[in-house]
Order: sequence, then structure tokens, then C-alpha cells
Amino acid sequence: MVEDRAGVTWRVLWQQLADEVGRPPARWLCETASGCDGAEFLAELDRPATARMVAHLDSMVVRLRAGEPLQYVLGRWGFRRLDLMVDRRVLIPRPETEEVVETAVRLMADRAGVLRAADLGCGSGAIGLSLAAELPVDRTEVWLTDASTDALDVARANAAGLGRAAVNVRFAAGSWYDALPADLAGGFDLLVSNPPYVADEAADLEAIVRDHEPALALFGGPDGLDALRVVVAGAPHWLRPGGWLVCEIGSSQAAAVRALAGDAGLGEVEIRADAAGLDRIAVARRPT
Ligand SMILES: C[S@@+](CC[C@H](N)C(=O)[O-])C[C@H]1O[C@@H](n2cnc3c(N)ncnc32)[C@H](O)[C@@H]1O
Repeated sequence: MVEDRAGVTWRVLWQQLADEVGRPPARWLCETASGCDGAEFLAELDRPATARMVAHLDSMVVRLRAGEPLQYVLGRWGFRRLDLMVDRRVLIPRPETEEVVETAVRLMADRAGVLRAADLGCGSGAIGLSLAAELPVDRTEVWLTDASTDALDVARANAAGLGRAAVNVRFAAGSWYDALPADLAGGFDLLVSNPPYVADEAADLEAIVRDHEPALALFGGPDGLDALRVVVAGAPHWLRPGGWLVCEIGSSQAAAVRALAGDAGLGEVEIRADAAGLDRIAVARRPT
């Protein structure tokens, strides 16, 4: 197969693959195999692929046909301004989580002085590294935590792509707030989390998600709320007065999370819909 197709141009390889997987995914696979992105790839379209590049392309197609998510096959995925390395150690960053980050960044827009934020359960680093990239580089500190040291390794690797903003990033391993230094209690302007919130026995979870993404990143106990209970209850202790908590939630969890926030003594509780109109973003504030 490799021998047959070495020497074939990228234009032909792209078209052949597009018939099977669609044009954009076919292009991303060809870009990865060719080592060229964007305009560079377009400039290569009428050049022949080498045998090694075709072998790489074929190996990715085999994985895709076996049912692996495209993002893991590519080994990378775009999230807001970032091009993140992703593999089976971390959740694939989702578009609705980009909206969680947008909400958090906007809440910080009027804040003067040093901004201290945390991304609890950072996975690939999608949220925390975006905060570091988008909040003022000269006065921001972002803590990225996870119970999975594998996930933290991926997040650390992704921080390398941040440039100057990487100096503002701190990593800590541990369960939720246990990962944070005790002397930072009461000092966070912003806590953001996309915790695991799928109910353990959720019947509607797609097989491609259940079979490939880390269980630790997905499941939140019998009702999916185990992690949210800890994150919401602990927020008043870690936020400074007036600081904000922003959580991604399951679309059926709005009432439960609103109640958890009230019980924790948080105010200005709001559930916001994502672009699909689903209740996915919980916002609450420690009273001043
Ligand atoms: C839904 S994923 C979110 C990953 C990433 N923040 C994102 O939005 O793409 C949840 C993350 O929480 C982490 N996690 C699970 N249990 C945890 C715990 N007890 N303490 C800290 N992190 C935990 C998982 O390892 C996973 O990386």
C-alpha cells in the first residue's frame, strides 16, 4: 500500500482521504503527515509525498478506522488561541469549554492589580493555559492542578508553547484544593474548573468518549456531582472576597449546582447557556 502510493501528490492523497473522512479532517491528517501547516501545506499540494509520509498517513488512517478520536490520532487540537498536544492521558478539549474561558476572562476584565487564578482539574491545560495567554501577562499567576500526574505532564508540555506567559504558570498535583499551597487560601480572584460531571452509569455517553477518554476526566459519581460538590463547597475558602468561581456543568445539573453554590455561601449565582443553548456554565461570587 505504501509502495503503491509513494510519489502520489498531496492533492490526490487529500482527495482520496476526503471521500472517506470529509475534507477538513482529511486535510488535518495530510498536514500532520506532511509536517506542513496552512499555507505551507497548500504550497506542497502538487509535490509527491515520500514513502515515510505516506506510511505516517496510513498509520493514522488505521487508528481512525479502528474508532480512535481524530484529535488523539492527530495528537493535537486547537483551543481558543492555543494549539494543544492531546493524547489518551487527557480529555479532548471541547468547544463549550472555550466559552467557559470566555466567561472567566470577561469577569476579570475590570480587575486591577495582580490576578491570581486556578484551573482545577487542568487536563491538557486548555483552561489554565488560555487564562495565562489571555489575561495581562505582567500581572497574572495561574495555578494548574490535577489528580492525574499523566495529565499534568501533558499540561506542562503544552505550557512550553505559551512563550512569555509560561512564566506565570504554576503546576500542582493533588485532589482539587489539596493541590494548592495553604497560604494561598483567600487569595484567588478566579477559580475555574471543568470537573468530571458525567454520571457513572450515564446511558447517553457516546461510545467513542467512554472507550477512549480517561475515566477520571469523565465520571463524577452516581449523579455526576461528586467533584462539583467539592469544588463549589471549597470555593469560599480559596477565593478572596469578591472573587469568582466559574464551572462547566452538565446541562441537567443547573438546579443542583445553583443549590450547592447557595449552600456554600456564594452569591451572584448564575447559570449561563452555551452557544447550543444548553445550561453549561455556572458562575458564582464570594460576597465582599
Ligand atoms: C473534564 S476533564 C477537564 C480537563 C480540562 N480542564 C478541559 O477542560 O479540557 C476533568 C479533569 O479533572 C481531573 N480530575 C479528576 N478527579 C480529580 C481530583 N480529585 N482532583 C483534581 N483533578 C481531578 C481529571 O484528571 C481531568 O483532567
